[in-house]
Amino acid sequence: MENKRYGHFDDQQREYVITDPRTPWPWINYLGNEDFFSLISNTAGGYSFYKDAKFRRITRYRYNNVPMDNGGRYFYINDGQAVWSPGWKPMKTPLDFYECRHGMGYTRITGRKNGVEASVLFFVPLKTWAEVQKLTLTNQSQEVKTLKLFSFEEWCLWNAATDMENFQRNFSTGEVEIEGSTIYHKTEYRERRNHYAYYHVNAEIQGFDTDRETFVGLYNEFSNPDAVMEGRPRNSHAHGWSPIASHYIEVTLQPGESKDLIFLLGYVENEQDKKFSAPQVINKDKAHATIEKLNTTEKVDMAFAQLCDYWDRLLDIYHVSTGNPKLDRMVNIWNQYQCMVTFNFSRSASFFESGVGRGMGFRDSNQDLVGFVHQIPPRARERIIDIASTQFPDGGCYHQYQPLTKRGNNDIGGGFNDDPCWLIFGTVAYIKETGDFSILDEMVPFDNQPGSEVTLFEHLKVSMDHVINNLGPHLLPLIGRADWNDCLNLNCFSWDPNESFQTTENKSEGSKAESLMIAGLFVVTGKQYVELCRKLGKDAEADRMQQAVDAMIAAVKKDGWDGEWYLRAYDYFGRKIGSNECEEAKIFIESQGWCTMAEIGAEDGMVGKALDSCKKYLECEHGMVLNNPAFTKYIYEYGEISSYPEGYKENAGIFCHNNPWVIIGETLAGRGNDAWSHYAKILPSYVEEKYQTLHKVEPYVNCQMVAGKDAFRPGEGKNSWLTGTAAWMWLTVSQYILGIKPQYDGLQIDPCLPETAKDYTIQRRFRDAEYTITIHPNGSQKGVKQVVVDGKAIEGNTIPYAAGKHIVEVTM
Ligand code: BGC
Ligand code: NOJ
Repeated sequence: MENKRYGHFDDQQREYVITDPRTPWPWINYLGNEDFFSLISNTAGGYSFYKDAKFRRITRYRYNNVPMDNGGRYFYINDGQAVWSPGWKPMKTPLDFYECRHGMGYTRITGRKNGVEASVLFFVPLKTWAEVQKLTLTNQSQEVKTLKLFSFEEWCLWNAATDMENFQRNFSTGEVEIEGSTIYHKTEYRERRNHYAYYHVNAEIQGFDTDRETFVGLYNEFSNPDAVMEGRPRNSHAHGWSPIASHYIEVTLQPGESKDLIFLLGYVENEQDKKFSAPQVINKDKAHATIEKLNTTEKVDMAFAQLCDYWDRLLDIYHVSTGNPKLDRMVNIWNQYQCMVTFNFSRSASFFESGVGRGMGFRDSNQDLVGFVHQIPPRARERIIDIASTQFPDGGCYHQYQPLTKRGNNDIGGGFNDDPCWLIFGTVAYIKETGDFSILDEMVPFDNQPGSEVTLFEHLKVSMDHVINNLGPHLLPLIGRADWNDCLNLNCFSWDPNESFQTTENKSEGSKAESLMIAGLFVVTGKQYVELCRKLGKDAEADRMQQAVDAMIAAVKKDGWDGEWYLRAYDYFGRKIGSNECEEAKIFIESQGWCTMAEIGAEDGMVGKALDSCKKYLECEHGMVLNNPAFTKYIYEYGEISSYPEGYKENAGIFCHNNPWVIIGETLAGRGNDAWSHYAKILPSYVEEKYQTLHKVEPYVNCQMVAGKDAFRPGEGKNSWLTGTAAWMWLTVSQYILGIKPQYDGLQIDPCLPETAKDYTIQRRFRDAEYTITIHPNGSQKGVKQVVVDGKAIEGNTIPYAAGKHIVEVTM
């Protein structure tokens, strides 16, 4: 495999710098923090949406198309000699220079051609429903340059799903308005819809286009639109078909001269009684107001500085200096950044998730918030309430909800029996970070039904009870539709290739299918629940749950152990899955991860043996695979997992998401060398060079899956960005490897390191305190000997919380 490089990290700027536009796969970034979001590739492909990638898609994007990554915010420059785009695409005219810098909430793409530089800064300002595109044109030559500049965006007709299919209707609905230098997209803006979008530039325009076919030409492509190639806009007015927005601007630049143009892609919602300024004319006040706030270079630079400031503050909360740039850049920059993105997007919109299939997952969002809670706790709090509101009175829950409506998604339904436990996992992480126990008293409905409200604590209780009330013949948790592994469908029994494994009705009635993954998860979250109850003085409830936890531990030891590792499950008929007795898939990672995290049978050597088995059977050059050996045929009783070819996805792919479970298991067992070697294998910066071509996807974030050892091309990555891997990598490194764990009463210091670890320092803001913690590992893998806070040695290894600045010295 050729070892070509497409880019490198710039830690000073917190950027990844892409120097060749032909990356092995589009390498993308995310813009936006709260309501207005954009995806942007290294060639400016991608799209924008408001809150919900399905129902409020603002610009159109064509997934899995030819060429790849088709559609975006494009600029065309016609200089009389050549027509080129600063991001190389869509023109693909060879550039004299190309660079894309993906940073924290912004992307800057620069191209140079024939003595002109065009640099575009893309970002979504804080609290703004718009994407800014600041284009800076510089004449670096000795001659006067006269350029014809065309911008381009294609509107999506709001619902991204029907936009791709209902053409008999779509081709007749499109409507626009043009006012000065602003093009408004107002399709269906009648009595029912109250929102529109706009594309503005802060300069006088010499023409425009809003009809795609007129601009591009029916038999042309984005790489040779008629209007651009001819250097003449058509001033077209879209009625139906496919509305677009393109500005035409003539720019003259003296030698050395530079000009900024601010483009703004915005979204507006109007109140019902203020929708129109005249019959059929949209009320543009809100658009005008946003434009007014961002119509000069100074204002935009200020907004950009605020965004950078915001990220400085967020990334200041946990900052490590180990002297190892590969580790520091992931911990301090990219892992935390990816956690924010997954928290915002759940699994809805990436270059692998089309934004129409999935809303916010119940388990996914709870996990994501654990990676995010230290950044903006109030948003994690809000998320917990939203998630809990989609729960049913018996503790079960909708598997997903739509961010726009916050209602449970009926297409997917519920019955995933791991889901309830994750609510404890998320809520405990929130309280430990913030000390805010008041969240437990919030009144939260079931299934969003007014009148059904009970306290959040009550939701946690019914969550635990849901597991207890759904035990199988071995007193292990019944799996339901599935546990964390959506593809281990033990009650599905699908022979019909037209059925979706994910949505088809399950036959859980009378099923004996039990999950060891849920068993481990129950023990981990059960212990958390017990600790919480004790903290709240609810001792009877704590005792009750402790008994259930003890019973679960006993059940796992009795019927969940296979001799060298934990079983994975029992199937519908009560037969073992993930056992040495099985023909294929003798061992699975999920139960090893959760049962070692739960430390079940540690005293009997079970944990150590299970961890060794992971190394022996699951580990390979690129990480640990999900199961081994891979399934080579479809198994009716197991479902989707066995529908994947060997080594991909849930069938023995390296599902990065669950490698950290085993790594945490390793740290709890004190095996720092092993924990580190597993961790480094899936740490993007560690594999950056090797993976530039093999791995294919972005080298600055984790992907969901790396093809496993049984795959045709082991090491190839897929499904980047939106994955629980982000939060789990963060939890692993911040709390278990580097060892700073928020507790109800303070910060516990308990690192687990490779023997080679050197002294390191962590800056940690925690509630109203700021700790500077220096750890001296002294060659030991685990075990804190002494903690000195502000010059005084403390008892144990938990720094009692106290507001203010503190200096901490830790000796291992
Ligand atoms: C994927 C899973 C995913 C599930 C639900 C399956 O096809 O393999 O990773 O969780 O769909 O969207
Ligand atoms: C991706 C899903 O988002 C997640 O919920 C699930 O646990 C994993 N795939 C494993 O199937």
